[in-house]
Amino acid sequence: MQNPMAIDPFALAQALSGVHLIDGELRAAASGRTFDVVNPATGEVVARAAYGEAADVDAAVRAAKAAQPAWARRRARERGALVVECGRRLAEHVEELGRLVALETGKALRTESRVEAGVLADIFLYYGGLGSELKGETIPFNPDMLTMTLREPLGVVGAIIPWNVPMLLMALKVAPALVAGNTVVVKSAEEAPLACLRAVQIMSEVLPKGVLNILSGYGPECGAPLTAHPDVRKVSFTGSVETGKIIATAAAQRLVPATLELGGKSPMIVCADADLGRAIDGAIVGMRFTRQGQSCTAASRMFVHEQVFEPFIEGVTARVNAMKMGDPLDEATDIGTIISPGQFQKVRDYIALAGAAPGAKAYACSRLPEDPRLAKGLFVQPHVFTGIPNDHRVCREEIFGPVTCVMAWRDFDAVIEQANDTEFGLSATIWTRDLRHALNATQRLQAGFVQVNQNLVVQSMLSYGGVKNSGLGKEASLEAMLEHFTTKKTVIINMT
Ligand code: NAI
Ligand code: MG
Repeated sequence: MQNPMAIDPFALAQALSGVHLIDGELRAAASGRTFDVVNPATGEVVARAAYGEAADVDAAVRAAKAAQPAWARRRARERGALVVECGRRLAEHVEELGRLVALETGKALRTESRVEAGVLADIFLYYGGLGSELKGETIPFNPDMLTMTLREPLGVVGAIIPWNVPMLLMALKVAPALVAGNTVVVKSAEEAPLACLRAVQIMSEVLPKGVLNILSGYGPECGAPLTAHPDVRKVSFTGSVETGKIIATAAAQRLVPATLELGGKSPMIVCADADLGRAIDGAIVGMRFTRQGQSCTAASRMFVHEQVFEPFIEGVTARVNAMKMGDPLDEATDIGTIISPGQFQKVRDYIALAGAAPGAKAYACSRLPEDPRLAKGLFVQPHVFTGIPNDHRVCREEIFGPVTCVMAWRDFDAVIEQANDTEFGLSATIWTRDLRHALNATQRLQAGFVQVNQNLVVQSMLSYGGVKNSGLGKEASLEAMLEHFTTKKTVIINMT
């Protein structure tokens, strides 16, 4: 374990400046250009990341392509063992990775960033054990013909990731892709390139060169050439619906598969008979208040039975009021900052729009930090709104900030209909002691992940992904590795 006091994230950030990791080595961008990495809690530039463009993408994809046949020819258990070793080393660096991601994203170290670093390691440990699950089938097609399917890797995978949980979302793509025998080129999010680069650097001490490469850069200049590269055989993306559609279109042009994990506007339904204390805890976790609501599964629409509406609002607002906003690197901090000035403005615009809705009531919770060092920090008070109808823009569009709308309901069928009345379908929860309501809701809610009386976050062994505009394909779980990072070959052997 690392000694937390000995880790200076500012020095680490400097040390990671100006490079990609391509073919096992740290390299500057072909153009020599860099861009600023900013600490959103202070506005200070903490590092300069390599400015990836088409030439860098090409170098990384070539390295990944060259490394892929030998990687795929290793025994699956051996690839898995190396991926487990990646997980072990990442687990030894949790403290360092947690601090780096807190510095670049503004997510509080204790409540979010350290947790993310732990999950990163766990995802590699999980997938590393699945090498021998890359099984095909034998098929009773014809007694004279031995017929079987083989699971084969796709080739080079392009992984494009966002900034909200960058390491975790990178792991959900990289770990299964590698175990299945693919090689990978990651494009990190421009807002958060450092922790992912450091994680890949740690893994590159274990993996053969070229097997895992990472570039930093902007979407159109670095992400688009990666999706368009003729040697990339699969694209895996997490981010906005808008960019997801651009990527799906680019992948369709080349007829390569794309997995898309997009946004959400996830409903939480609280029945009159629910254990209210548990539901309030679930609302705090579900809305990801400690991550400033920057989650694709954020429970941003809460439907609460009118009989328990007032105590629910009281409970949730009291809990959020008790949370401390402040320096993300301070252990006492519960809530850090929004990622970037653009997102900060977007969230504040939605808060203004919600506040202007007729009948809206706003509960602004917690307190902005007073520390003058944080005066330029992108802090936003969590807002709980009531009195905003489900068809208002604030209830229809993904805000990706600490803003939730709580709506009262009376009729069960009507509330299920309202919960489903959205373009998204990622996650949903229902809180009740009535088995009929619970079972009905699990059948009828249109979402990829439905929970009753709890709100767990993504688990490595459970399939995760949305319906409707929330995406295409699943992540996490064995199925995600088999279905999204392999192709099936049918083999028939005539024995006559
Ligand atoms: P985005 O979807 O534009 O960015 C995500 C990733 O895609 C980044 O690495 C970016 O560089 C890359 N990208 C952007 N344009 C691209 C292109 N043309 N080709 C290839 N790659 C491209 O998301 P952004 O702008 O950071 O956030 C906007 C909104 O997206 C947020 O307010 C939120 O609603 C949603 N979002 C959802 C996330 C999720 O977990 N589902 C994560 C981040 C954002
Ligand atoms: Mg964008």
